[in-house]
Amino acid sequence: MAIKVMSIFGTRPEAIKMAPLVQRLAQTEGIESLCCVTAQHRQMLDSVLESFQITPDYDLNIMQPNQMLASIISRTLQGMEPVFQQAKPDLVLVHGDTTTTLAGALAAMLHQIPVGHVEAGLRTYDKASPFPEELNRTLVGDIAQLHFAPTRANADNLKKEAVTGDIFITGNTVIDAMQTTVRPDFVFQNELLNQLDYRKPVIVMTCHRRENYGEPMAAIMQAVRRLAQAHPEVCIVYPVHLSPVVRECAFGHLQGLDNVHLIDPLDVEQMHNLIARCSFVMTDSGGLQEEAPAMGKPVLVLRRETERPEAVQAGTVALAGVDEAQVFRMAEQLLTDPAAYARMAHAVNPYGDGHACERIAQAIAWRFGLTAERPADFVPAQSTGA
Ligand code: UD1
Ligand code: UDP
Repeated sequence: MAIKVMSIFGTRPEAIKMAPLVQRLAQTEGIESLCCVTAQHRQMLDSVLESFQITPDYDLNIMQPNQMLASIISRTLQGMEPVFQQAKPDLVLVHGDTTTTLAGALAAMLHQIPVGHVEAGLRTYDKASPFPEELNRTLVGDIAQLHFAPTRANADNLKKEAVTGDIFITGNTVIDAMQTTVRPDFVFQNELLNQLDYRKPVIVMTCHRRENYGEPMAAIMQAVRRLAQAHPEVCIVYPVHLSPVVRECAFGHLQGLDNVHLIDPLDVEQMHNLIARCSFVMTDSGGLQEEAPAMGKPVLVLRRETERPEAVQAGTVALAGVDEAQVFRMAEQLLTDPAAYARMAHAVNPYGDGHACERIAQAIAWRFGLTAERPADFVPAQSTGA
Protein backbone atom coordinates (compact mmCIF):
# COMPACT_ATOMS: atom_id res chain seq x y z
CA MET A 1 0.00 0.00 0.00
CA ALA A 2 1.31 3.42 -0.93
CA ILE A 3 2.15 5.99 1.78
CA LYS A 4 -0.42 8.80 1.62
CA VAL A 5 1.27 12.20 1.84
CA MET A 6 -1.10 15.16 2.04
CA SER A 7 0.28 18.63 1.27
CA ILE A 8 -1.76 21.41 2.87
CA PHE A 9 -1.29 25.02 1.75
CA GLY A 10 -3.36 28.14 1.22
CA THR A 11 -1.47 31.27 0.17
CA ARG A 12 0.44 32.29 -2.94
CA PRO A 13 3.99 31.79 -1.62
CA GLU A 14 3.18 28.40 -0.11
CA ALA A 15 1.63 27.31 -3.40
CA ILE A 16 4.64 28.41 -5.47
CA LYS A 17 6.98 26.53 -3.16
CA MET A 18 4.81 23.43 -2.68
CA ALA A 19 3.70 22.96 -6.31
CA PRO A 20 6.96 21.36 -7.50
CA LEU A 21 6.96 19.12 -4.41
CA VAL A 22 3.38 17.96 -4.97
CA GLN A 23 4.42 17.09 -8.53
CA ARG A 24 7.60 15.34 -7.40
CA LEU A 25 5.78 13.27 -4.77
CA ALA A 26 3.26 12.15 -7.40
CA GLN A 27 6.18 10.69 -9.39
CA THR A 28 7.74 8.95 -6.37
CA GLU A 29 7.22 5.21 -6.21
CA GLY A 30 5.40 4.08 -3.07
CA ILE A 31 3.91 7.53 -2.39
CA GLU A 32 0.39 8.75 -3.11
CA SER A 33 0.45 12.55 -3.30
CA LEU A 34 -2.71 14.31 -2.09
CA CYS A 35 -3.23 18.06 -2.17
CA CYS A 36 -5.54 20.01 0.15
CA VAL A 37 -5.82 23.79 -0.18
CA THR A 38 -7.36 26.02 2.48
CA ALA A 39 -7.60 28.86 -0.07
CA GLN A 40 -6.60 31.38 2.60
CA HIS A 41 -5.86 33.29 -0.61
CA ARG A 42 -8.44 32.62 -3.32
CA GLN A 43 -7.45 34.40 -6.54
CA MET A 44 -3.70 34.49 -5.83
CA LEU A 45 -3.70 30.77 -4.98
CA ASP A 46 -5.75 29.81 -8.03
CA SER A 47 -3.32 31.66 -10.27
CA VAL A 48 -0.44 29.47 -9.01
CA LEU A 49 -2.48 26.26 -9.25
CA GLU A 50 -3.23 27.13 -12.87
CA SER A 51 0.42 27.88 -13.70
CA PHE A 52 1.56 24.53 -12.31
CA GLN A 53 -1.57 22.69 -13.52
CA ILE A 54 -2.44 21.34 -10.10
CA THR A 55 -6.01 20.36 -9.25
CA PRO A 56 -6.41 20.04 -5.47
CA ASP A 57 -8.07 16.92 -4.11
CA TYR A 58 -9.67 19.03 -1.36
CA ASP A 59 -10.48 22.77 -1.25
CA LEU A 60 -11.67 24.33 2.02
CA ASN A 61 -12.37 27.70 0.35
CA ILE A 62 -12.01 29.64 3.62
CA MET A 63 -11.02 33.13 2.41
CA GLN A 64 -13.08 36.11 3.57
CA PRO A 65 -12.51 39.80 2.77
CA ASN A 66 -10.30 41.42 5.43
CA GLN A 67 -10.10 38.12 7.23
CA MET A 68 -9.07 37.81 10.88
CA LEU A 69 -6.25 35.47 11.85
CA ALA A 70 -8.56 33.63 14.26
CA SER A 71 -11.07 32.94 11.52
CA ILE A 72 -8.38 31.46 9.24
CA ILE A 73 -7.41 29.12 12.07
CA SER A 74 -10.92 28.10 13.10
CA ARG A 75 -12.19 27.62 9.54
CA THR A 76 -9.14 25.51 8.69
CA LEU A 77 -9.42 23.37 11.82
CA GLN A 78 -13.10 22.69 11.13
CA GLY A 79 -12.57 22.17 7.42
CA MET A 80 -9.79 19.63 7.91
CA GLU A 81 -11.99 17.29 10.04
CA PRO A 82 -13.93 15.60 7.21
CA VAL A 83 -10.86 15.69 4.95
CA PHE A 84 -8.74 13.70 7.42
CA GLN A 85 -11.62 11.33 8.14
CA GLN A 86 -11.99 10.56 4.46
CA ALA A 87 -8.37 10.63 3.23
CA LYS A 88 -6.57 9.23 6.30
CA PRO A 89 -3.12 10.51 5.32
CA ASP A 90 0.02 8.90 6.77
CA LEU A 91 1.87 12.21 6.70
CA VAL A 92 0.82 15.84 6.39
CA LEU A 93 3.17 18.42 4.86
CA VAL A 94 2.85 22.12 5.63
CA HIS A 95 5.03 24.94 4.36
CA GLY A 96 6.68 27.95 5.96
CA ASP A 97 4.95 30.28 8.38
CA THR A 98 1.47 31.40 7.35
CA THR A 99 -1.69 30.94 9.39
CA THR A 100 -2.63 28.04 7.09
CA THR A 101 0.71 26.45 8.03
CA LEU A 102 -0.03 26.65 11.74
CA ALA A 103 -3.68 25.58 11.42
CA GLY A 104 -2.83 22.70 9.07
CA ALA A 105 -0.18 21.40 11.47
CA LEU A 106 -2.49 21.80 14.47
CA ALA A 107 -5.30 19.95 12.69
CA ALA A 108 -2.94 17.07 11.86
CA MET A 109 -1.62 16.98 15.43
CA LEU A 110 -5.14 16.73 16.81
CA HIS A 111 -5.63 13.67 14.57
CA GLN A 112 -2.23 12.27 15.59
CA ILE A 113 -1.02 12.42 12.02
CA PRO A 114 2.74 13.04 11.69
CA VAL A 115 3.71 16.43 10.26
CA GLY A 116 6.55 17.35 7.92
CA HIS A 117 7.54 21.02 7.84
CA VAL A 118 8.89 22.33 4.55
CA GLU A 119 11.00 25.51 4.82
CA ALA A 120 11.67 24.85 8.49
CA GLY A 121 14.03 26.67 10.86
CA LEU A 122 13.85 30.27 9.59
CA ARG A 123 13.97 32.62 12.57
CA THR A 124 14.28 36.28 13.52
CA TYR A 125 13.87 35.42 17.22
CA ASP A 126 11.53 38.41 17.49
CA LYS A 127 7.95 37.25 18.13
CA ALA A 128 6.61 40.63 17.04
CA SER A 129 8.36 40.67 13.68
CA PRO A 130 7.37 39.17 11.41
CA PHE A 131 4.00 38.78 13.11
CA PRO A 132 2.42 36.26 13.27
CA GLU A 133 4.90 34.35 11.08
CA GLU A 134 7.72 33.99 13.64
CA LEU A 135 5.32 32.40 16.12
CA ASN A 136 3.69 30.24 13.45
CA ARG A 137 6.94 28.67 12.29
CA THR A 138 8.26 28.17 15.83
CA LEU A 139 5.05 26.45 16.93
CA VAL A 140 5.06 24.24 13.84
CA GLY A 141 8.67 23.35 14.64
CA ASP A 142 7.39 21.95 17.94
CA ILE A 143 4.65 19.94 16.25
CA ALA A 144 6.57 18.52 13.28
CA GLN A 145 8.50 15.26 13.23
CA LEU A 146 10.20 15.87 9.88
CA HIS A 147 11.94 19.22 9.39
CA PHE A 148 13.03 20.20 5.89
CA ALA A 149 15.44 23.09 6.48
CA PRO A 150 16.49 24.99 3.34
CA THR A 151 19.96 25.94 4.66
CA ARG A 152 22.50 24.79 7.24
CA ALA A 153 21.82 27.90 9.34
CA ASN A 154 18.11 27.01 9.41
CA ALA A 155 18.97 23.47 10.53
CA ASP A 156 21.28 24.87 13.23
CA ASN A 157 18.41 26.98 14.60
CA LEU A 158 16.29 23.84 14.95
CA LYS A 159 19.12 21.96 16.64
CA LYS A 160 19.60 24.82 19.11
CA GLU A 161 15.90 24.62 19.93
CA ALA A 162 16.23 20.85 20.37
CA VAL A 163 13.17 20.08 18.23
CA THR A 164 12.25 16.43 18.14
CA GLY A 165 12.38 14.37 14.95
CA ASP A 166 14.63 14.33 11.89
CA ILE A 167 16.20 17.42 10.35
CA PHE A 168 17.19 17.45 6.67
CA ILE A 169 19.03 20.22 4.80
CA THR A 170 17.28 20.31 1.46
CA GLY A 171 17.61 23.72 -0.19
CA ASN A 172 14.51 25.81 -0.85
CA THR A 173 11.88 24.44 -3.23
CA VAL A 174 11.40 27.91 -4.72
CA ILE A 175 14.63 27.39 -6.67
CA ASP A 176 13.09 24.17 -8.04
CA ALA A 177 10.01 26.16 -9.09
CA MET A 178 12.19 28.67 -10.95
CA GLN A 179 13.66 25.92 -13.12
CA THR A 180 10.38 25.78 -15.05
CA THR A 181 9.19 29.40 -14.90
CA VAL A 182 12.17 31.48 -16.07
CA ARG A 183 12.79 31.51 -19.83
CA PRO A 184 14.86 33.95 -21.95
CA ASP A 185 12.25 33.95 -24.75
CA PHE A 186 9.31 34.52 -22.38
CA VAL A 187 6.48 36.71 -23.71
CA PHE A 188 4.40 38.53 -21.09
CA GLN A 189 0.61 38.44 -21.24
CA ASN A 190 0.69 41.90 -19.65
CA GLU A 191 1.45 44.14 -22.67
CA LEU A 192 3.01 46.86 -20.50
CA LEU A 193 5.73 44.41 -19.46
CA ASN A 194 6.52 43.57 -23.09
CA GLN A 195 6.79 47.27 -23.96
CA LEU A 196 9.09 48.35 -21.11
CA ASP A 197 12.61 49.41 -22.07
CA TYR A 198 14.70 47.15 -19.85
CA ARG A 199 17.89 49.01 -20.82
CA LYS A 200 16.65 51.80 -18.54
CA PRO A 201 16.25 51.20 -14.78
CA VAL A 202 13.17 49.09 -14.02
CA ILE A 203 12.45 48.55 -10.33
CA VAL A 204 10.09 45.80 -9.21
CA MET A 205 8.37 46.50 -5.94
CA THR A 206 6.06 44.54 -3.62
CA CYS A 207 4.88 45.27 -0.08
CA HIS A 208 2.26 43.49 1.98
CA ARG A 209 3.42 42.40 5.45
CA ARG A 210 1.07 42.86 8.38
CA GLU A 211 3.76 44.37 10.63
CA ASN A 212 4.22 47.08 7.97
CA TYR A 213 0.51 48.05 8.02
CA GLY A 214 0.02 51.68 9.02
CA GLU A 215 2.94 54.05 9.44
CA PRO A 216 5.78 51.86 8.12
CA MET A 217 3.89 51.09 4.91
CA ALA A 218 2.98 54.75 4.43
CA ALA A 219 6.66 55.72 4.90
CA ILE A 220 7.72 53.12 2.32
CA MET A 221 5.17 54.41 -0.19
CA GLN A 222 6.32 58.00 0.38
CA ALA A 223 9.94 56.98 -0.22
CA VAL A 224 8.93 55.34 -3.50
CA ARG A 225 6.94 58.43 -4.47
CA ARG A 226 9.97 60.64 -3.89
CA LEU A 227 12.15 58.25 -5.86
CA ALA A 228 9.78 58.24 -8.83
CA GLN A 229 9.57 62.05 -8.82
CA ALA A 230 13.33 62.57 -8.44
CA HIS A 231 14.14 60.05 -11.20
CA PRO A 232 11.74 60.31 -14.14
CA GLU A 233 14.04 57.98 -16.14
CA VAL A 234 13.15 55.14 -13.75
CA CYS A 235 10.13 52.90 -14.17
CA ILE A 236 8.66 51.25 -11.07
CA VAL A 237 6.43 48.19 -11.54
CA TYR A 238 4.36 47.36 -8.48
CA PRO A 239 1.97 44.39 -8.67
CA VAL A 240 -0.25 45.26 -5.72
CA HIS A 241 -1.31 42.49 -3.32
CA LEU A 242 -5.09 41.97 -3.11
CA SER A 243 -5.28 42.79 0.60
CA PRO A 244 -7.64 45.80 0.91
CA VAL A 245 -5.34 47.39 3.52
CA VAL A 246 -2.39 47.22 1.15
CA ARG A 247 -4.36 48.44 -1.87
CA GLU A 248 -5.67 51.49 -0.04
CA CYS A 249 -2.17 52.46 1.06
CA ALA A 250 -0.47 51.79 -2.29
CA PHE A 251 -3.06 53.53 -4.45
CA GLY A 252 -3.46 56.34 -1.90
CA HIS A 253 0.23 57.27 -2.08
CA LEU A 254 1.33 56.25 -5.56
CA GLN A 255 -1.58 56.65 -7.95
CA GLY A 256 -1.18 59.20 -10.72
CA LEU A 257 2.61 59.05 -11.18
CA ASP A 258 3.55 58.41 -14.83
CA ASN A 259 6.51 56.19 -14.02
CA VAL A 260 4.85 54.08 -11.30
CA HIS A 261 2.74 51.21 -12.63
CA LEU A 262 0.33 49.85 -10.05
CA ILE A 263 -0.84 46.60 -11.60
CA ASP A 264 -2.79 43.55 -10.41
CA PRO A 265 -0.83 40.59 -9.00
CA LEU A 266 1.07 38.79 -11.74
CA ASP A 267 0.97 35.06 -12.27
CA VAL A 268 4.17 33.43 -11.09
CA GLU A 269 5.66 32.96 -14.56
CA GLN A 270 5.29 36.65 -15.43
CA MET A 271 6.62 37.65 -12.01
CA HIS A 272 9.72 35.48 -12.22
CA ASN A 273 10.52 36.65 -15.75
CA LEU A 274 9.99 40.27 -14.74
CA ILE A 275 12.52 39.84 -11.92
CA ALA A 276 14.92 38.26 -14.39
CA ARG A 277 14.78 41.42 -16.56
CA CYS A 278 14.56 44.20 -13.96
CA SER A 279 17.37 46.31 -12.44
CA PHE A 280 16.58 45.63 -8.82
CA VAL A 281 13.82 44.70 -6.38
CA MET A 282 12.35 46.56 -3.39
CA THR A 283 10.22 44.29 -1.24
CA ASP A 284 9.10 43.06 2.15
CA SER A 285 8.38 39.61 0.69
CA GLY A 286 10.21 36.52 1.85
CA GLY A 287 10.14 34.64 -1.45
CA LEU A 288 11.56 37.52 -3.46
CA GLN A 289 14.61 37.62 -1.17
CA GLU A 290 15.37 34.08 -2.33
CA GLU A 291 14.46 34.38 -6.01
CA ALA A 292 16.10 37.66 -6.99
CA PRO A 293 19.63 36.79 -5.73
CA ALA A 294 19.51 33.60 -7.79
CA MET A 295 19.01 35.85 -10.84
CA GLY A 296 21.75 38.30 -9.84
CA LYS A 297 19.30 41.07 -8.92
CA PRO A 298 19.93 43.30 -5.90
CA VAL A 299 17.16 43.38 -3.31
CA LEU A 300 16.36 46.17 -0.85
CA VAL A 301 14.34 44.62 1.96
CA LEU A 302 11.60 46.91 3.25
CA ARG A 303 11.74 45.53 6.78
CA ARG A 304 13.80 46.01 9.93
CA GLU A 305 15.04 42.41 10.03
CA THR A 306 15.13 39.27 7.94
CA GLU A 307 15.04 35.56 8.66
CA ARG A 308 17.01 35.06 5.45
CA PRO A 309 20.53 36.29 6.33
CA GLU A 310 22.35 34.17 3.74
CA ALA A 311 21.90 36.54 0.78
CA VAL A 312 22.61 39.55 3.02
CA GLN A 313 25.93 37.93 3.91
CA ALA A 314 26.53 37.22 0.21
CA GLY A 315 25.98 40.93 -0.50
CA THR A 316 23.01 40.79 -2.93
CA VAL A 317 20.37 41.70 -0.35
CA ALA A 318 20.43 44.76 1.93
CA LEU A 319 18.08 45.71 4.74
CA ALA A 320 16.59 49.10 3.89
CA GLY A 321 14.25 49.26 6.89
CA VAL A 322 11.00 51.22 6.89
CA ASP A 323 12.25 54.76 7.35
CA GLU A 324 11.32 57.03 4.43
CA ALA A 325 14.68 58.82 4.19
CA GLN A 326 16.71 55.62 4.42
CA VAL A 327 14.65 53.70 1.87
CA PHE A 328 14.91 56.63 -0.53
CA ARG A 329 18.67 56.99 0.02
CA MET A 330 19.44 53.30 -0.49
CA ALA A 331 17.32 53.04 -3.64
CA GLU A 332 18.83 56.23 -5.05
CA GLN A 333 22.32 54.89 -4.41
CA LEU A 334 21.58 51.81 -6.52
CA LEU A 335 20.40 54.11 -9.32
CA THR A 336 23.26 56.59 -9.23
CA ASP A 337 26.34 54.69 -8.03
CA PRO A 338 27.37 52.01 -10.57
CA ALA A 339 29.99 50.58 -8.20
CA ALA A 340 27.43 50.16 -5.41
CA TYR A 341 25.06 48.50 -7.89
CA ALA A 342 27.78 46.18 -9.22
CA ARG A 343 28.69 45.09 -5.68
CA MET A 344 25.14 43.78 -5.20
CA ALA A 345 24.34 42.53 -8.71
CA HIS A 346 25.97 39.14 -8.76
CA ALA A 347 24.16 35.83 -8.86
CA VAL A 348 24.37 33.80 -5.67
CA ASN A 349 22.40 30.77 -4.74
CA PRO A 350 22.61 30.15 -1.02
CA TYR A 351 19.02 28.91 -0.99
CA GLY A 352 19.02 25.98 -3.35
CA ASP A 353 20.23 24.09 -6.39
CA GLY A 354 16.90 23.05 -7.89
CA HIS A 355 16.93 19.61 -6.21
CA ALA A 356 15.12 20.37 -2.95
CA CYS A 357 11.96 18.45 -3.88
CA GLU A 358 14.02 15.40 -4.80
CA ARG A 359 15.70 15.47 -1.36
CA ILE A 360 12.39 15.94 0.46
CA ALA A 361 10.74 13.06 -1.43
CA GLN A 362 13.75 10.86 -0.67
CA ALA A 363 13.70 11.85 3.00
CA ILE A 364 10.04 10.88 3.26
CA ALA A 365 10.70 7.58 1.45
CA TRP A 366 13.62 6.95 3.86
CA ARG A 367 11.55 7.80 6.94
CA PHE A 368 8.80 5.38 5.88
CA GLY A 369 11.26 2.61 5.01
CA LEU A 370 10.79 2.78 1.22
CA THR A 371 14.52 3.35 0.70
CA ALA A 372 17.60 2.68 2.82
CA GLU A 373 19.33 5.88 1.71
CA ARG A 374 18.92 9.13 3.60
CA PRO A 375 19.32 12.09 1.21
CA ALA A 376 22.63 13.96 1.22
CA ASP A 377 22.49 17.54 2.56
CA PHE A 378 22.19 20.47 0.18
CA VAL A 379 25.48 22.38 0.02
CA PRO A 380 25.50 25.78 -1.74
CA ALA A 381 27.84 25.90 -4.73
CA GLN A 382 30.12 28.59 -3.27
CA SER A 383 30.68 26.47 -0.17
CA THR A 384 31.70 23.34 -2.05
CA GLY A 385 35.08 22.11 -0.93
CA ALA A 386 35.29 24.71 1.84
C1 UD1 B 1 -0.54 36.01 4.13
C2 UD1 B 1 0.43 35.46 5.18
C3 UD1 B 1 1.82 36.03 5.00
C4 UD1 B 1 2.31 35.87 3.58
C5 UD1 B 1 1.28 36.44 2.63
C6 UD1 B 1 1.70 36.19 1.23
C7 UD1 B 1 -0.62 35.01 7.33
C8 UD1 B 1 -0.93 35.54 8.68
N1 UD1 B 1 -0.02 35.87 6.50
O1 UD1 B 1 -0.69 37.40 4.41
O2 UD1 B 1 2.72 35.36 5.87
O3 UD1 B 1 3.53 36.55 3.44
O4 UD1 B 1 0.00 35.81 2.85
O5 UD1 B 1 1.02 36.98 0.32
O6 UD1 B 1 -0.90 33.87 7.04
N2 UD1 B 1 -7.03 38.67 -0.60
C9 UD1 B 1 -7.85 38.51 -1.68
N3 UD1 B 1 -7.53 37.56 -2.61
C10 UD1 B 1 -6.42 36.80 -2.52
C11 UD1 B 1 -5.57 36.99 -1.41
C12 UD1 B 1 -5.89 37.92 -0.45
O7 UD1 B 1 -8.87 39.18 -1.82
O8 UD1 B 1 -6.16 35.98 -3.40
C13 UD1 B 1 -7.40 39.68 0.43
C14 UD1 B 1 -8.57 39.24 1.32
O9 UD1 B 1 -9.36 40.36 1.61
C15 UD1 B 1 -7.86 38.78 2.58
C16 UD1 B 1 -6.70 39.75 2.66
O10 UD1 B 1 -6.29 39.89 1.30
O11 UD1 B 1 -8.71 38.84 3.71
C17 UD1 B 1 -5.54 39.35 3.50
O12 UD1 B 1 -5.12 38.00 3.23
P1 UD1 B 1 -4.39 37.14 4.37
O13 UD1 B 1 -4.07 35.80 3.82
O14 UD1 B 1 -5.20 37.18 5.62
O15 UD1 B 1 -3.08 37.93 4.70
P2 UD1 B 1 -1.84 38.29 3.81
O16 UD1 B 1 -1.45 39.67 4.16
O17 UD1 B 1 -2.11 37.95 2.41
N1 UDP C 1 4.70 36.82 -6.79
C1 UDP C 1 3.89 36.58 -7.88
N2 UDP C 1 3.14 37.61 -8.38
C2 UDP C 1 3.16 38.85 -7.84
C3 UDP C 1 3.98 39.08 -6.70
C4 UDP C 1 4.73 38.05 -6.18
O1 UDP C 1 3.87 35.47 -8.40
O2 UDP C 1 2.46 39.72 -8.35
C5 UDP C 1 5.51 35.72 -6.25
C6 UDP C 1 6.96 36.01 -5.97
O3 UDP C 1 7.77 35.83 -7.13
C7 UDP C 1 7.27 35.01 -4.88
C8 UDP C 1 5.98 34.93 -4.12
O4 UDP C 1 4.96 35.40 -4.99
O5 UDP C 1 7.51 33.72 -5.43
C9 UDP C 1 6.06 35.75 -2.88
O6 UDP C 1 4.79 35.81 -2.31
P1 UDP C 1 4.35 36.95 -1.34
O7 UDP C 1 5.15 38.16 -1.56
O8 UDP C 1 2.87 37.05 -1.47
O9 UDP C 1 4.63 36.32 0.10
P2 UDP C 1 5.94 36.09 0.98
O10 UDP C 1 7.04 35.58 0.14
O11 UDP C 1 6.27 37.39 1.63
O12 UDP C 1 5.48 35.13 2.02
